[in-house]
Amino acid sequence: MKPVEIRPGVFWVGVNDRVTELFEGLWPIGREGISINSYLIRDEKSALIDLSKEMLTEDYLAGLAGIFDIASLDYIVINHMEPDHSGALTRLRQLAPQAVILGMPKTVGMLKDFYDLTENVEKLTNGQELSLGAHTLRFVYTPFVHWPETMMTYLVEEKILLPCDGFGGYGALDGSIFDDTCADLAYYEAEALRYFTNIVAAFSKSVLSAISKFEGMPIEIVAPSHGLVWRKDPGRIIALYQRWSEYYNTPAEVGVTALLGTMYRNTEHALSAALEGVASQGVPVRVYDVRKTHISYILSDLWTRRGVLVAAPTYEGGLFPPMLDALMMADRKRVTHRKAAYLGSYAWGGGGQKEFESMAEKMAWDVVGSFGFVGGPSATDLDRAYEMGVQLARAVQD
Ligand code: FEO
Repeated sequence: MKPVEIRPGVFWVGVNDRVTELFEGLWPIGREGISINSYLIRDEKSALIDLSKEMLTEDYLAGLAGIFDIASLDYIVINHMEPDHSGALTRLRQLAPQAVILGMPKTVGMLKDFYDLTENVEKLTNGQELSLGAHTLRFVYTPFVHWPETMMTYLVEEKILLPCDGFGGYGALDGSIFDDTCADLAYYEAEALRYFTNIVAAFSKSVLSAISKFEGMPIEIVAPSHGLVWRKDPGRIIALYQRWSEYYNTPAEVGVTALLGTMYRNTEHALSAALEGVASQGVPVRVYDVRKTHISYILSDLWTRRGVLVAAPTYEGGLFPPMLDALMMADRKRVTHRKAAYLGSYAWGGGGQKEFESMAEKMAWDVVGSFGFVGGPSATDLDRAYEMGVQLARAVQD
């Protein structure tokens, strides 16, 4: 996409990544893509704020060169060192060796570690300002949104927040960069939630802390480094991120995420009875087969729903491996304080239930019911599963 002037002298100069299959080598984006947004301020002095990943450097520089003489660049502002934003640094340093690289103190060490860059680098302090002429940049230290060096840049006169990973989302930008001109805002909001749960949710406390630092600073545009630029309703994405972040220690929404793993459908039959129990209480439930659905797509519901219903058999004395993988990632992403239940089939000695209960304890899940059964579920097992579903549904409504 060509650069877009979002306010006088302030340009979006990003690129779409429609090639990468797994973001961070982990998270599927093969269908959705992702945008790597960068911003150029042209004034008496010029500054680039966040860059591009290395693989897309030539596309990125070609777009930039269409509106700007790169060799004349004065400043490179590094909000965040992760290579999806800093990968173009080595090439940019060759093209504009005089440009001063600015970042928080931890950024300076990372510049050496990642790119062996030590010259023309300046440390910033929290709240420091830099005048480019008519535009003033204010640098606000927001550690752990997403790495410890992370900061956000605020354009004082234009009231634009450049928060890098914060308020970002998956989804390449399809010809338009703004919230008011994109084809499908609901899609981008869903992809913002998936991105949040995959990348940022583990740092929810830091997100809330960052949001509090901007109280009193009017924000007319939120321009993250992934996803849409929010100019019609910048408060919308901030409010969404605030709500999602609060779920790290407050009850999430009424609803149940059911996770299914099954070998010969015995566990699936018992789950069906439990789902009827949940539904009988009017509580929404969504079922994911953990063998078929990447955890990236499951985390959105796990994060936003209060209840988790785990249905998986025993496998070699422990929990069915795809289910164990899913729960381990839920633990890594801090899906804590949920109401939970378990059921699963076993053939002789069991073990799946015990491993589930161990994982549930680790995540501080309140287990309202848990049982295993031998072979196929009996009528009694099905009744028990139904009743457990009822109990789980009631628990998530408390
Ligand atoms: Fe978009 Fe933490 O990098």
